[in-house]
Amino acid sequence: VPTAILISGRGSNMMALAEACADPAFPARIVLVLSNEPDAPGLTWAADRGLPTAVIHHRAYDDRESFEAAMTERLREAGARLVCLAGFMRLLTPGFVSTWGERILNIHPALLPAFKGLHTHERALDAGARVHGCTVHLVSAEMDSGPIVAQAAVPVLADDTPETLAARVLEQEHRIYPLALRLLAEGRLHVTGAACHVRGA
Ligand code: GRF
Repeated sequence: VPTAILISGRGSNMMALAEACADPAFPARIVLVLSNEPDAPGLTWAADRGLPTAVIHHRAYDDRESFEAAMTERLREAGARLVCLAGFMRLLTPGFVSTWGERILNIHPALLPAFKGLHTHERALDAGARVHGCTVHLVSAEMDSGPIVAQAAVPVLADDTPETLAARVLEQEHRIYPLALRLLAEGRLHVTGAACHVRGA
């Protein structure tokens, strides 16, 4: 299934997805890596790997709608059927989300519905959480919401800093994002109400 990855920065999740998609047996293939930030380091990695890349710079557009219309046009040109947000730092409007239906995944560095938003590792430490983790979910109009597809938990250690905790979580992000994309690409996700079930699981 032709898939686009949207990034804004480093792109380590994009790399994990690209590595999974490089296996001919994997049900998704990358048709575009699109960044809203012209200087995103992940773009260089993708281009070096021969992946098609594009920049749609949000600051070049008057409003969110025209920025998103440009993204949708570019995604359609690339033939994308699925979209993976991988450290993509722009909020999406309900219009964009409904255009793509249940075909957008996001990865969030916390066990949703806890710790939506930014600085999740610091906030988990401040809250004294004993476990923390990451979530891949289908994107709905509300930020960091939408049916959960996959989660992984890690322990919080007594001497953790936001950085050490982030690194432990990131390893799990790289593991579960390809799993979640596989399920979506295989058409095995079934949404009922707020929850997502996996067919054949
Ligand atoms: C990841 O922690 C992801 O969960 C969050 O932003 C970070 C992006 O990292 N949404 P990368 O660009 O994938 O390396």
